[in-house]
Amino acid sequence: MDIFVHETTKTFHLQNDLISYVMTVLPNGHLGQLYFGKRIHDKEDFGYLLERCIRSHSALTEDNETGVSLEHVKLEYAVYGSSDFRDSALEIVQENGSRLTDFKYAGYELLAGKPKLPGLPATYTESDDEASTLIITLRDEVAGLSLQLLYTIFAQGGVIARSAKISNTGKQTVYLTRAMSFCLDLPDADYDWIQLSGSWGRERYPQQHRLHQGIQAVESMRGHSSHQHNPFIILKRPSADEFQGEALGFSLVYSGNFLAEAQVNTYDVTRVLLGIHPNWFRWKLTCGQEFQTPEVVMVYSGDGLNGMSQTFHRLYQRRLARGIWKEQPRPILINNWEATYFDFNEEKILNIAKKAKECGVELFVLDDGWFGARRSDHAGLGDWVACKELLPNGIKGLSEKVTEAGMKFGLWFEPEMVNPDSDLFRTHPDWALSIPERSSSLGRHQMVLDFSRKEVVDFIHDMIAEILRESKISYIKWDMNRSITECYSKALPADQQGEVFHRYILGVYDLYERLIQEFPKILFESCAGGGGRFDAGLLYYAPQAWTSDDTDAVERVKIQYGTSYAYPVSSMGSHVSAVPNHQVNRVTPLKTRADVAYFGTYGYELDLNRLTAEEQEEVKQYTQFMKDHRALLQFGTFYRLQSPYGKNEAAWMTVSEDRTEAIVGHYKTLSTPNADFSRLKLQGLDPEKLYEVEGYGSFYGDELMNLGIVTSDADSGKIGMEVRPAGDFLSALYILKEKK
Ligand code: DGJ
Repeated sequence: MDIFVHETTKTFHLQNDLISYVMTVLPNGHLGQLYFGKRIHDKEDFGYLLERCIRSHSALTEDNETGVSLEHVKLEYAVYGSSDFRDSALEIVQENGSRLTDFKYAGYELLAGKPKLPGLPATYTESDDEASTLIITLRDEVAGLSLQLLYTIFAQGGVIARSAKISNTGKQTVYLTRAMSFCLDLPDADYDWIQLSGSWGRERYPQQHRLHQGIQAVESMRGHSSHQHNPFIILKRPSADEFQGEALGFSLVYSGNFLAEAQVNTYDVTRVLLGIHPNWFRWKLTCGQEFQTPEVVMVYSGDGLNGMSQTFHRLYQRRLARGIWKEQPRPILINNWEATYFDFNEEKILNIAKKAKECGVELFVLDDGWFGARRSDHAGLGDWVACKELLPNGIKGLSEKVTEAGMKFGLWFEPEMVNPDSDLFRTHPDWALSIPERSSSLGRHQMVLDFSRKEVVDFIHDMIAEILRESKISYIKWDMNRSITECYSKALPADQQGEVFHRYILGVYDLYERLIQEFPKILFESCAGGGGRFDAGLLYYAPQAWTSDDTDAVERVKIQYGTSYAYPVSSMGSHVSAVPNHQVNRVTPLKTRADVAYFGTYGYELDLNRLTAEEQEEVKQYTQFMKDHRALLQFGTFYRLQSPYGKNEAAWMTVSEDRTEAIVGHYKTLSTPNADFSRLKLQGLDPEKLYEVEGYGSFYGDELMNLGIVTSDADSGKIGMEVRPAGDFLSALYILKEKK
């Protein structure tokens, strides 16, 4: 990887084996965007790409010599108020009421590696040769402000990470009302836009439409990244698909309110913006203070959507997730939530744990309901002390008993919340977010703690840390079960209330950071009423996240398929649960439930005592299968093969780095009469290698990738022949091993 700086033309070119990113200083001193895409040769001058003609009805900055019409050039970090009329990256209200800034190039700095973003999650390097960073400084002398644009190019993969830092070096207090993480002007609009959207129980379904003139956007104003829209968008060429063609992915490494938009002007130039949502955002910046935006990770793929996703997966597994678990196969767990809900005591819990141990499960997780007066979701949140009626030996005693039984022990917390019916709320009613003299909306009978206040975070930290210190805990599930409303902190003055949403999420990150530093061996799983905060920000602290409360196998194929566009298999919490399924009432075979959950962290969400002896034997086999293959399933190269949306069949696969092993998951929803004799083309294999497909025979890699594997079942009228059985909700795994 290289960063070329051409002093005479003031051109900057970030380049690695796969991509190039080119910028230049415009005649008026602003920073202009020239190119982001497949690697190109370096050159001194790409000035021919600058549009200088003066169009009717457009304004010109400065004079005809140095002036440009900002509306007609591509910019790196645009502002509104001068000659660009599009949505901007930055807006700063100054003492005289003006919002216009005019940042001009002041210099640059090159760094080996990648600097940390204080207080914020971000991708990182482990050695300086893994990435290079270019920091471009721009100055607005009138406002006394400095703007630093950070660009890191990684040696591996088509990835650039960007963020911005605004410093007040002047004599006046200013207010940031918009500070996006990045702005990218693309020269055309020939793209399909893909977003991951949904709701509770059906998170992150991809939705696609052709980019069109005007603004298209997704956002969250709920205080968390949300079930509704994910802080991640894709622009792909209409001809591109999973396997070929150009795709650009933009992922915000942040967990709070966000806005992701593409604005196409009437010259078909596309501006992409992503960052903290400007609504309700107003950050006071006094003299000497700085504001660092969250990071955006941009990926260019010339190998279709799978190529783009694989780049995100590798980066997020290796250089976003941290700690001992990031590349470790994950323990197989059992969680008691759907097994008991709030109806448990120590005896019941130990029964569930012991049976799970017999079935090969490695970790028992005690979910909601173990503390304070928490007998239902009406009370107790915030009182993180075990309820002695249910657990006479406390968490310490229970964790010791589970450990003695041969399993690790994990515990559920919901650190950011408080029930009005709790000792914490009775003692500190002002610690909940609410607006004085106005009523507060409750969500699941609870309020949100004011994590913008250090004393609140300290208090919750101390309660949690005490339990973690005295008990044998190796896993934490950190839940968050409502969106933020009435966002107001009693600890901040009126002119800083616009900071609360962001300060809140910084408080969440701070608590995570303290806990992971203090308890580095604990595996954290994030959760927000299922997958309501499944984002790159939290992967920095918790390498896995509960993907959805919907544990039905058919639904989960869709949810995990959609989630995989940005996030790796190793980050997706996936459990086998009971039937009829608690969310959709569907009855699916145990095998299908396991075949779906294998492509995730894998666990159980039921009381195995309630299964028949035969089913328990099956569970033992499934658990063993996962143990034998989890490194490949969780950390192999993942390919989406066949989309489940609106279709009856779906498939995905994972391939080992040396391409000697692969596992394919194929899922069929309904049985169909007299169906096609179907084949599925595989991906990522070595064309020259001969593979043994367990139970099906030997095939060359090129055969499997070009002819495909026969996936027909007895539906194709072949009853009695050696084909897969037919029926509703069936699945098959194809296990490939190089034949020596
Ligand atoms: C929502 C989570 O997604 C569930 O798994 C469970 O932990 C409940 N909260 C407990 O309240």
